[in-house]
Amino acid sequence: MSTHTPHEDRDLARKTAEALSYLHGFGNLHSSEAMAGALPDGNHAPQRPPLGLYTEQISGSAFTEPRGGNRHSWMYRIRPSAQHGAFRRIGGGGFHGLADAEIEMNRSMWSPLPDPAPGTDFVSGMWPLGGNGDPAERTGMAVYLYAANTSMKDKVFSDSDGELLITPQAGELLVHTEFGPLHVKVGDVALIPRGVRFQVELLDVSARGYVAENFGRPLVLPELGPLGANGMANPEDFRAPTAAYDEVERPVEVIVKYCGELWGSVYDHSPLDVVAWHGNHVPYVYDLNRFQTVGTLTYDHTDPSVFTILTSPTDTPGVPNMDFLAPNWRWSVAEDTFRPQYYHRNISTEIYGVIKAPPGRTGVYGAPGSISVQNMMTPHGVVPEADSAATQAELRPERIDGHLMCAYETRLPLKFTRQALDSERRHPDYDSLWQGFERRFGR
Ligand code: FE2
Repeated sequence: MSTHTPHEDRDLARKTAEALSYLHGFGNLHSSEAMAGALPDGNHAPQRPPLGLYTEQISGSAFTEPRGGNRHSWMYRIRPSAQHGAFRRIGGGGFHGLADAEIEMNRSMWSPLPDPAPGTDFVSGMWPLGGNGDPAERTGMAVYLYAANTSMKDKVFSDSDGELLITPQAGELLVHTEFGPLHVKVGDVALIPRGVRFQVELLDVSARGYVAENFGRPLVLPELGPLGANGMANPEDFRAPTAAYDEVERPVEVIVKYCGELWGSVYDHSPLDVVAWHGNHVPYVYDLNRFQTVGTLTYDHTDPSVFTILTSPTDTPGVPNMDFLAPNWRWSVAEDTFRPQYYHRNISTEIYGVIKAPPGRTGVYGAPGSISVQNMMTPHGVVPEADSAATQAELRPERIDGHLMCAYETRLPLKFTRQALDSERRHPDYDSLWQGFERRFGR
């Protein structure tokens, strides 16, 4: 056990986080070894792997998936991850209620989570808002808020149901994965692939943020079409970890989310014991501010799909299972145009989290830490005051800044957990924001 105070532990972890190096490029076949010679040379599964390690492959796609969508990684580890006893259901943990999620048509917003009880970590601090589809059918997604004040100690998590997008709103994270550690700051998003084991260490006294769980096909960069070869999220800005391993020989709890439920087992060692690896089924961290936003240079408002960072495709071309978007800083220059987004109803469901907002700003998205949902075909757009300002404004070039958002769009309506619907943090009068539009016709 550590003999340091929590403060000293955080200082040490922060030094580790700030010294990390990364491999760059979304979707690349990366290689990394924490010890020279740990990676086999010339084949993947030699008769006797180097350094007495065990070879293990994790497949994130069917073996025969075309190369463009094929995801797999080879790991060279101190012990096979197969060395464990039976997994047993351990109840919902922080993931309860999604299986019984209920339809709610109305526009909804929730205030930030309260401070968690002492001893709450990333897994127990997960607060499920809602979801759609079915993890057992590999379709749909779920959305969570998290609030934690404790690092995961001798506890490792993985999600067999899908990949996780972790977007901190407050508090930096050091996410220890089988492939190595990621330093995830406020303004970053971490992508943890399906089935990859990880442990979240807090670099600040507390941490809170947003998590999306994608049950569908792995997230990829959107095609660029007429934009050409560059723009939007550039692949080189996605950083994969370099190999690092634990040599922990004491009981470690492993929690797996599997078909909507949490299962647990105890290993007699840390399963974060991968000394070297090679592959493309790997975690990434991405700085949202690196996004190259494109938009109109003439008139009208570009559709928000231009803000897509990552998209989970379906078998229907152009119809994503879910998108992850960041409508963040940019210049607004369009002429003779209603510059905020036009009023709209959308077949997709829109979910917005606020990472940062100018002080005192209210409106449809709420304060930092809030989350709002505009469900399938519900009408929305700016509030009357913003409409008046936008229609009266002198249209000079304007830098839109001071805010940081994360957004998810999903093709199916979102259902909500009972706790979300009953929560006192759900705004009872959200509809009132869209009352009082001036009648201008005929005046
Ligand atoms: Fe919208």
